[in-house]
Amino acid sequence: MKRRRFLRRASHVAMATGLAGGYGALGLIAGRFLFPSDDRGRVWQYLVDVDRMAVGQSLSYRGPAGEAINVTRRGRGGGADDFVALSSTCPHLGCQVHWEPQNDRYFCPCHNGTFNAAGVATGGPPFDAGQDLPPYPLRVDSGLLFIEVPVDALAHLVSPVTSAPAAGTG
Ligand code: FES
Repeated sequence: MKRRRFLRRASHVAMATGLAGGYGALGLIAGRFLFPSDDRGRVWQYLVDVDRMAVGQSLSYRGPAGEAINVTRRGRGGGADDFVALSSTCPHLGCQVHWEPQNDRYFCPCHNGTFNAAGVATGGPPFDAGQDLPPYPLRVDSGLLFIEVPVDALAHLVSPVTSAPAAGTG
């Protein structure tokens, strides 16, 4: 009789422990889904050797999640501050902007939207709506330029250097 009671209690304890563990795991998964951490799913990716880009040159890059990004060299120093990485998707209606070194700006051909070198809207519909080009963090390590991007798939370069250096800058 004692043994039967003991086994019954032991099975109740095991069942309660299993349920608590199952609901706990479910709660953790739901919490991670509802409240993801900010730096989760981001990674630094190699872009280019710093001395392979002249001042004023720009390259197009497609991130792992498919985002199109322009990376432009702005200064001679070779540090991360001498480069800028901005989304190349116009925040107005999604056309692709490109760097114009001769005008020191990004230009959207769809509705003549313009942005300064920092990605701040300066003309056209994006300026009217206060829509800037989102920036991406950059880092230089041992002469190599890296970009921090969200990770959802494999990354690849769309094309290497695509525009000529600005006159008198390179
Ligand atoms: S889509 Fe770029 S200005 Fe309209």
